Amino acid sequence: MLLISNGRVLNPASGSDAQRDILLDGDRIVGLAPHGQLADQARGAEIFDAKGLIVAPGFIDLHCHLREPGGESSETIETGTRAAAHGGFTAVCPMPNTRPVNDNASLTRSIVERAAAVSPVRVWPIGAASIGSKGEALAEIAAMKQAGIVAVSDDGHPIANAKLLRSVMDYCRELGLPVIDHCEDSSLFAGAVMREGKQSVRLGLRGMPAATESLCVARDVQVGELTRCRLHIAHLSARASLDLVRAAKARGLPVTCEVTPHHFTLIDEDVEYDSRYKMNPPLASREDREALIAGLADGAVDAIATDHAPHEPALKDVEFDKAPFGITGFETAIGLGLELVHAGKISLMRMVELFTSGPARVLGIERRIAENEPGDLTIFSTEHKWTFRAEESASKSRNSPFDGREFRGAPMATVVAGRIVYQR
Ligand code: DOR
Ligand code: ZN
Repeated sequence: MLLISNGRVLNPASGSDAQRDILLDGDRIVGLAPHGQLADQARGAEIFDAKGLIVAPGFIDLHCHLREPGGESSETIETGTRAAAHGGFTAVCPMPNTRPVNDNASLTRSIVERAAAVSPVRVWPIGAASIGSKGEALAEIAAMKQAGIVAVSDDGHPIANAKLLRSVMDYCRELGLPVIDHCEDSSLFAGAVMREGKQSVRLGLRGMPAATESLCVARDVQVGELTRCRLHIAHLSARASLDLVRAAKARGLPVTCEVTPHHFTLIDEDVEYDSRYKMNPPLASREDREALIAGLADGAVDAIATDHAPHEPALKDVEFDKAPFGITGFETAIGLGLELVHAGKISLMRMVELFTSGPARVLGIERRIAENEPGDLTIFSTEHKWTFRAEESASKSRNSPFDGREFRGAPMATVVAGRIVYQR
């Protein structure tokens, strides 16, 4: 038994915010009560003193890259999930763009088995929509669902062919799986490495306009409407895309979206000739960032997702043009989320919702702290001061533009299935 004592327990699903003790037994929550009231029931339990800390349902990351199989020099399931635990995540959803691509049930099973052996957190894989994520033929989605996928995506690429997207969505509606699209119009993308604007001109780098993303979002919403399948827009970065999601939601369509910490924190003007600022979608304009923050605050955005995309130094330490897209994200996510809270842009409860019940709803599940619920908790401080040092990261990779950034607030303990898997 484990007693999480006297923390400030935030439960976005019910809106409750109160000092509570939480008792865990086995892999479940067995008690939730005002401080002191579980003393009898908790006799003999290990005690974690959460005084002064926030206790939230376990954080879920809808979007990450663990690189195994095929990219083990950048990350493995073991190192990536350890970084996730350090970042306060209790469950992560790895994208299928491994080598080979996770487009079949036997690979899905091997990822699930590997995770069961080495991962401190839950690993809920996402299966490819098309074979090899090539956008040509449907992957074996039903068999992958049997093996444990929680969603379908060709992340890294959009599902460019609308007819194929329609077929994927028809299947996924029947299977009850959301389709997650990496929205990008490849003709506008065409070799770009950052957002088009003054900064791309200044740096002499090829830019892409915001419409690269929003054109594809508009198409997806319309194909989604044909099928009534749940559609989730990955790493949404542009105001125009968010306006389309808002309009779809207003019409009652099952459309959701996620925003990454880097897109609500940085803008194109922050991009330096340094590949740690290269990711896809690229950092957007100031106006876009303000629109994303407004969406995080008012509910238009459903989840914060990291898009943790590790790349080993040998790949990333090259000219901007040649470097792969992507930055690490697990360990800085809570700190960056709290920057919005400290700045008064979103409430603490809303931030917790964006990491818990928000992403859970995208997956069609619930996340709350209550008796009989899974014993997954994220315990964090809103005040603890620390500096992120990429070289000290649990990830195998160091490609973060936030290296050296000072944070106010940090994950303090991660509890998965009733066990503390990380403690600061
Ligand atoms: O920045 C990115 N990195 N965007 C993607 O879509 C793919 C990802 C990766 O796999 O590195
Ligand atoms: Zn992507």
